[in-house]
Amino acid sequence: MITTALIAAAGKGTRMLDLAEHIPKHLITIRKRPFLYYLLSHLSKAGIQNFVLVVGHKKENMESFARTYGNQFAITLVDQFERMGTDWYGTALPVLAAEPELKNTNFIAVYGDNLYSPRDIKKFTGEHAYTAMGVREVERPERYGVVTIDDNDFVTDLIEKPDNPVSNLINAGIYTFTPDIFDTVRDVRISPRGEYELTDAIKAFTSKRLVKAIFLNDYWVDFGRPEDIKTVSDILDTL
Ligand code: G1P
Repeated sequence: MITTALIAAAGKGTRMLDLAEHIPKHLITIRKRPFLYYLLSHLSKAGIQNFVLVVGHKKENMESFARTYGNQFAITLVDQFERMGTDWYGTALPVLAAEPELKNTNFIAVYGDNLYSPRDIKKFTGEHAYTAMGVREVERPERYGVVTIDDNDFVTDLIEKPDNPVSNLINAGIYTFTPDIFDTVRDVRISPRGEYELTDAIKAFTSKRLVKAIFLNDYWVDFGRPEDIKTVSDILDTL
């Protein structure tokens, strides 16, 4: 069983406006605890024991988070800006930054600003030889990576933020990776939006039918806008 998770939390969170001016958006307080606490807690309930937390922007706040919750979660901090510099952006960078910690193991990777249920996360903890990607249907697919799959649920294509989405099925930002991911991520070139995209690395596997789509059935929040605070709070009410 997979017991290690990479949590990418180096970004700025500009869409959170002034709510994330003084702290990383991952640490915005909801019901007396930072958002990130709930993500780690749900990962932990799904069986994750080692948390590789990739930080950068407002690192001091993340260090303080790791100290506060260190007795509850085994957190290893990785400083993306120290390892990769600050001139590059994109979701591929935290994966490369954490290679020394993760190179010998299969691991789950999540974006630190997304929330999933323990039951959905559990579907990613099985040991497989392929990559797994969480997918679900949404109303505004153009905001996400749009996914197409074959009859066996293997991903056949992944298109980032298309103007004309071919379907409502999208990449929900939770993955299981094998150590092969590192070589593929190293080959990623800068995208049209000027970033190094993790999804470009994953696309390299899709042509070989090596990415299995796993459907999320419970709630999923992409915690990016001020109104998402209420959404998360309402979800916590139901747990
Ligand atoms: C990233 C991925 C995208 C995915 C989304 C989920 O986008 O590139 O494929 O649908 O996360 O939150 P970003 O949020 O970096 O724009």
